Parts: sequence; structure tokens; C-alpha cells
Amino acid sequence: MTKPFYVILFAILFTSGLESQAVVFHNNYMRNGFSLNGQWNYIVDVYESGFYNYRWIPYDEIENPGAGAFFLNSKPKSKSDLVEFNFDMSPTIYVPGDWNSQHEKLFYYEGTIWYKKSFNIPDFNPGKRYFIHFGAVNYRADVYVNGQKLGMHKGGFTPFHYEMTGIVREKDNFVIVRVDNKRAADEVPTLNTDWWNYGGITRDVTVYAVEPTFIDDYNIQLDEENKQLIRGNIRLNGKDKAGQKVIFSIAELNIQKELFTNDDGYVQFEILSKKIGLWSDTHPKLYDISLETETDAIKDRIGFRQIKTIGPEILLNGEKIFLRGICIHEENPVRGGRAYSMDDARILLGWAKELGCNFVRLAHYPHNENIVRLADEMGMLVWEEIPVYWTIQWGNEETYQKAEQQLKEMIQRDKNRASVIIWSMANETPQSPERNTFLTRLVNTTRSMDPTRLISAAMENHGKKGVKNIAVVEDSFSDMVDIVSFNQYYGWYGGDIANLKNLRWEIDINKPVIISEFGAGALQGYHADSLTRWSEEYQEYLYRETLPALRTIPQLSGISPWILADFRSPRRMLSPYQEGWNRKGLISQTGNRKKAFYVLQKFYEELASQFVKEKKKSR
Ligand code: GCU
Repeated sequence: MTKPFYVILFAILFTSGLESQAVVFHNNYMRNGFSLNGQWNYIVDVYESGFYNYRWIPYDEIENPGAGAFFLNSKPKSKSDLVEFNFDMSPTIYVPGDWNSQHEKLFYYEGTIWYKKSFNIPDFNPGKRYFIHFGAVNYRADVYVNGQKLGMHKGGFTPFHYEMTGIVREKDNFVIVRVDNKRAADEVPTLNTDWWNYGGITRDVTVYAVEPTFIDDYNIQLDEENKQLIRGNIRLNGKDKAGQKVIFSIAELNIQKELFTNDDGYVQFEILSKKIGLWSDTHPKLYDISLETETDAIKDRIGFRQIKTIGPEILLNGEKIFLRGICIHEENPVRGGRAYSMDDARILLGWAKELGCNFVRLAHYPHNENIVRLADEMGMLVWEEIPVYWTIQWGNEETYQKAEQQLKEMIQRDKNRASVIIWSMANETPQSPERNTFLTRLVNTTRSMDPTRLISAAMENHGKKGVKNIAVVEDSFSDMVDIVSFNQYYGWYGGDIANLKNLRWEIDINKPVIISEFGAGALQGYHADSLTRWSEEYQEYLYRETLPALRTIPQLSGISPWILADFRSPRRMLSPYQEGWNRKGLISQTGNRKKAFYVLQKFYEELASQFVKEKKKSR
């Protein structure tokens, strides 16, 4: 019986690689691309007149939008022509980088700014596939190349890319991006955050050329039970992806394995090796791996380690570990703007290392890839999170989809990073059935994408009703996570520091506990007695009293005090102490350490040496 036409058509489309499989484009970081970083022209468009016509219809939804549409980059055809914008005559701004810290007039700006960059493509080859990749744009990006819309992305802290094969040419290309960082109740994060809403193309922009069939995605990790077993899978994308030979190599382990993809361009594998050196915070061993097909090759640096919990303990490679952490916002405090570069990462993780940390909580959103890859190299364990923060619209399905998209983009980017051990779903979210449903869906998505890492969320604690000096963590979401984490600010938001020695936490849960935040504000250089708020002595006193109190928690497996460095926040206006800065940093925005820095540093030093002694005793 002949098959109906549409079945045959689908079969042709599917096998010809035109199927709608989304391109993942994993690990662009290690591919050689053509950078579009540098000066871009920009136009501030407060009334969005470059995006909507005067009837408020988006130009990119109109058949012939005319010269008012910024994305067309129209030029006057004659001296009488009317075109009311000109990118090439407009000022410039640096990409990557937020706009707030680059131009005084944009410091508080929340709205739309248009970016434009002209570019030629060196070694252009019409037989290749071309992609444009953005490390992140905060918050919404509408991307156009040569007057064609490639797509729209929402989410200010995760990477995205678009294929532009057949749209770009060797010369005279132009990319135009409409960036809108306005906050909104139904977005993720929502309207209210305690950090600066830095807008712009805040991370790298790169053009990549790849062969028609290329290595699109892969997972390579150590088996969770067998330290000598490497498990992986590889996916090709393109019309010739089926039955392709892929060579997986780790030269240092004398591994060279020939693999063949199935009809979907996919292959799973596992390889035994007795010589694998495990990655850990004390020995961050990374292996150079390579994947090669007939037409593509990609390299990566992978650490092999196991992370799990047993009862109240966190085990790294089967050994109990304590997470000596610190929270970090993605901000270079000295520059006073979004961090994005490897140099920024070296400053921030260098400070964390100096503090004696083996763990960082990258708050409250996915940071740039540089800091995660540097954590791999340095042996710094990482907690990553999406900005599901405070009062998210739990009952709004579109809001959930936005949160899930950012979660997937975060996991998709960093799933091969040994340093990342915790995916966190949320921060200080109010308990409700809708919130639990929302977060449980995120947990299920996380476990399906990556069953190898631990899941947590920064929850809240509160005083036990009618009982003095007892705090409790009663959050039903605790059942869904591997690690129970909570923020506690006793002695800053309520409570007397002097009473901390009497405070106890009642946590009736047989899981590891991380104190994901505690801290106090201090203006660096302001000195007074230890009861004078905003003085360095007050912050120091709070640390001195909090650290021993936390150690009374039997399941305590880590702490990440709030926060490494002062950071900008529109919610912190108190003169002369705050003036737009949250002052809970242990380091000021001029890079000066406050007295509490040394309290935590000493505590971690003693903790680390105690752990070494215990390890020796247990051998
Ligand atoms: C909260 C929140 C942080 C905030 C901090 C503070 O716990 O998680 O984002 O900056 O407290 O009040 O300083």
C-alpha cells in the first residue's frame, strides 16, 4: 500500500536533516569563533519608536515596515528622503558590558536600547553553517541580521544563539539587537530584587562557522558508582549525522575510542580506565578531551568526580566534605558593573581563595562561563541558581516556562563542569501550594536533564512559636531537595548578636544543611563599638558570634555568608552608609577588606586543618 504523500514528505524532511531538532551548540567556548566584541553603535529608544509604528504594531510583524523600523537600518535614498535614525552617526558603547556603568546618563536607565554592529566574515564559505552566539543579554533581546529577524530571547543570564546560514555574506553584514531590561511582575526575576538591574549585551558576542554536520552536544562524566568508568553521549547535528564515526580521545589516559552515531546522529558510550585522577577541591585534575568526526573537531577540559549525599553528609568522591563558602554577585565592585571577563573572574575567585573558600554560591542567577571554567581550574566547588527570587508569579504558566527555559540553558551550558555540584531552584520564596508545584516542576526538569548533581534552594527559617531561642526550618519544599539550605540573619534583621550563643536551630531532617546566607552591613572604614550598626566592628562581632552558633547544627555541611563584596542595589539608599550599595560585603567596592573578612578567614583556616586531621585519623 503506497504511503500517503505527507508521510513520505515527513520522512524526507526528517532524514534530510531539516527536522526541527533544536541546535544545542554546546561548548561554543572552546570553538574558534569570530568575535563581535568591541564598540557597537547604540540608540536609546525610551518610547520604542524603533520597534513599534505609531499604531503600536511591531514593525517586525508588518509586511513592509518602512524606514521607521530600526532593524532594517534604512538609509536615505535621496537628499529629500526621511529616515529619522542613523546608527552609524550614533554614539558607541562597549560590548560586552552593561550600559549602566559605561555612561552616566544610563546609570539608572531601564528600557530599550538598540545596538548595531557591522561586520565582514573572514574566510567566508557559503558551504558552511553560520551561527551568532550571545553569552547573555539582560533582559530581552530581539536579534536581527541583515534586516532579518533571527529571534527573541528572554532571560538576562544565560546564553543563546541563532543560525544565520544563508543570511550572512562575506561583506557588509550588520547585526542589530533591541535590548530591553524593563522589569515586569511576570518575568524571572520579577519586579523586586536586591541587585542592580544592569541592562545590555553583558557578555561576549561571537560568530561561528561550522560544517553542515557538526558536533552539537555531548555529556562526559564519571559514573556515579564506579570511579573507573567514564560515561558519555554525543549528538551530531546536520544532514549527514547518521552513521558517522566519532573518535573520543583522552590522550593522557591512552583512550581513543571509535564510536558510530545512530540514525539520530546520537551515540552513547562508556569507557573503563584504571588510571583516572579524580577532580576535587584539593586536586582539581582536568583532562583534555577531544571529539572528532570526519568534518568537525572540538576539545574540552573535563574533571571526573562523584558528588552525592548520604544522610546529613555531602560526599565528594566518597569522602565527606565541608563547603567553606561565600556568596558572590556577578559584579566587579571596583568597576561597579557586571562582571563578564576572565580577569573579573580571577579577581572574585582570587578573593574567595584568599578567604580560604573551597565553595562559592554564584547568586542569584547563572554567572558568566569564565567564572565557572576558572572554578574548574582552581578546584572551587560551585552552587549555581536561576533568579527564581522572592515573589515570582507562581500561578502563571508563562512565568514557569521562562524559569524552566533559564534552568535548561544554565544546565545545558555547565553540565560538563566538574566544579558545579549544586543546582539551586530558588531564593527566599514564600511558601504556598502554587510555589511548591512551580519548584517541584523545576526539580523534575533538573533531575531529568542532569541526575548527577545535587539540588537545593535557599529557604527561610523563623523563630519557633512560643519558644525562645529556637529557630526552625519548616519548608515543605525540603522534601524535594538533596540539601536543605536556608538564609538566616539573626543579629541583623532582628535578634541580638549577644543572644546568638543561646540560639539553636531545630531541623528535623536527615539531609545535609547549608547556611546559604548570613551577614551584616558595614561601611568599610567606619569604626565604632560593636553595637554600632554599620560599623566594621558590628559586622565583625556578628561573624564572631554566628559562626560558632551555626556549628551547633548537627547536619551542617557548608556555609556561604552574604557576601564577598559590596554590590550595587537600588533598595539600599541610606546615607551615608549605603548610597546605592548593599554593604554586607566582606570587601568594599574599593577592594578593601573589612575586619569581618579576617574572622571568616581564620574560621575557615581552622576548619580546613581540623578536616585534614580528621581525614588522617579516619585512614
Ligand atoms: C536576602 C537575599 C539577598 C539580599 C540579602 C540582604 O537574603 O537573598 O539577595 O541581598 O538578603 O538583605 O542583604
